[in-house]
Amino acid sequence: MPDQKDATGSTMSTGAPAPSDRNSLTVGPDGPILLHDVHFLEQMAHFNREKVPERQPHAKGSGAFGIFETTEDVTAYTKAALFQKGVSTDMLARFSTVAGEAGSPDTWRDVRGFSLKFYTSDGNYDLVGNNTPVFFIRDTMKFPHFIRSQKRLPDCGLRDNHMQWDFWTLNPESAHQVTYLMGDRGLPRTWRNMNGYGSHTYMWTNAVGEKFWVKYHFHTNQGLDQFTNAEAAAMAGADADFHRRDLFEAIKRGEHPSWTMFVQVMPYVDAKTYQINPFDLTKTWSHRDYPLIKVGTMMLNRNPENFFAQIEQAAFSPGNTVPGIGLSPDKMLLGRAFAYNDAQRNRIGVNFHQLPVNQPKVPVNSYMFDGHMTYHHSGSAPVYAPNSGGRSWADQTGPVADGWEADGDMVRSAYTLRPNDDDFTQPGILVREVFDEAQRDRLVETVAGSLLGGVRSPVLERAFDYWKSIDPEVGARIEACVRVGNAPAPAQGMGEGSEPRAELTAP
Ligand code: HEM
Repeated sequence: MPDQKDATGSTMSTGAPAPSDRNSLTVGPDGPILLHDVHFLEQMAHFNREKVPERQPHAKGSGAFGIFETTEDVTAYTKAALFQKGVSTDMLARFSTVAGEAGSPDTWRDVRGFSLKFYTSDGNYDLVGNNTPVFFIRDTMKFPHFIRSQKRLPDCGLRDNHMQWDFWTLNPESAHQVTYLMGDRGLPRTWRNMNGYGSHTYMWTNAVGEKFWVKYHFHTNQGLDQFTNAEAAAMAGADADFHRRDLFEAIKRGEHPSWTMFVQVMPYVDAKTYQINPFDLTKTWSHRDYPLIKVGTMMLNRNPENFFAQIEQAAFSPGNTVPGIGLSPDKMLLGRAFAYNDAQRNRIGVNFHQLPVNQPKVPVNSYMFDGHMTYHHSGSAPVYAPNSGGRSWADQTGPVADGWEADGDMVRSAYTLRPNDDDFTQPGILVREVFDEAQRDRLVETVAGSLLGGVRSPVLERAFDYWKSIDPEVGARIEACVRVGNAPAPAQGMGEGSEPRAELTAP
């Protein structure tokens, strides 16, 4: 008799036996439901609250756990515990699209998020980067405007190419990242086939207090690979979760994807005189000036057991650093140091750090207490510092290990320009010297297709100028295609992925 089966199988959240997961309590089989059916009411009330808001950007994604192993000696540059040769550190990675909502197709053209959380012996270290080494803007103040321009129109709720190009062309510092986005990086075949970058400049400090500026590069060991526009569009319809599925199934099969981590290291004093502002997130550093130095390998080998608990509730922040690693004067990075934890307080709750996926693997002695859902406490120990009750507190004074000099009047201003700080040189090199002929053809096809998707005057003319400033020939080709109302036929076959010119762009 199916109605009797498993009658004692589940419990209520109190642990007491649940009466039934199939039948509510009624007055007779056909009568009304009774208000004292606590089990029924609890089910309904909890169901109404079982979602949390999706991430504002980077809503669609997934991830896996793994291990980072430092294989090289980089003690000359950092004392960070996780980057000591031979140290293995448990970690979590989450990959994502930027603009799409939680249910959007994985293969819509977009930059991909590349978030890493390292559970180190000095506390959690997060590196929250992308699959490109640069970004669209260089001042945090612009970020909400940028994200809104990539999302949906306020009236009809539709995505809108006109709005995207309006923002990009009014913010020409976007040119480098838009070139990456419209190139093959915008359509990675799988997350396993893309590189990751810290993108920003960070600080490393060694055991004797010397400081260095670093940029992180994670090169995929699976090889770069990408979809064509047609393949990506077909996949968006056939399997909106293709990238999520690919990673999960690969790990399940025992194919553990890995990435080799490198850093570019700039001596602290070089930053003052380098030809470009080394803290400008729209620029890459020449690899000739600062070659890649190998650090170690990250391997993903364990799928989440519960997507909500371990991926949706995962909370990454570029502000989560550990001794030996610091931030930098990059205005974007400094803004991000606030934004993430604040987003997570809103998205998950004030005690999100206490959730298993976010918990450090080291003891926590924080002076932040209570609030919704707290379950970590220190009993009757003093809740204030300083105190005479034997509870330790922190008391650093003087120069900070990961600080830099700052002085001057308070202003609202763009960065001071250096000799080579223009917005179009680096994307021009990317197009001419890094992309091959087939990649340039795909770029023209993609941009023209996007502009033909409803971009109107005067944004259209600004977009032509924008591309001609990046590269006159490519700009002219894009304009010609749009004028005749036609994107060129896609290049045949798939390229091997963009391998940027070694000395100027990443990898
Ligand atoms: C100043 C500019 C930026 C601001 C204010 C900002 C803000 C945010 C916020 C609020 C979230 C959602 C966090 C959450 O709910 O857990 C987020 C997610 C994310 N952002 Fe940013 N962001 C900025 C720039 C960047 C840049 C430059 C990168 C890459 C280099 C980046 C990469 C990511 C990634 C990968 C995620 C997803 C994190 C995850 O996997 O949970 N963001 N950003």
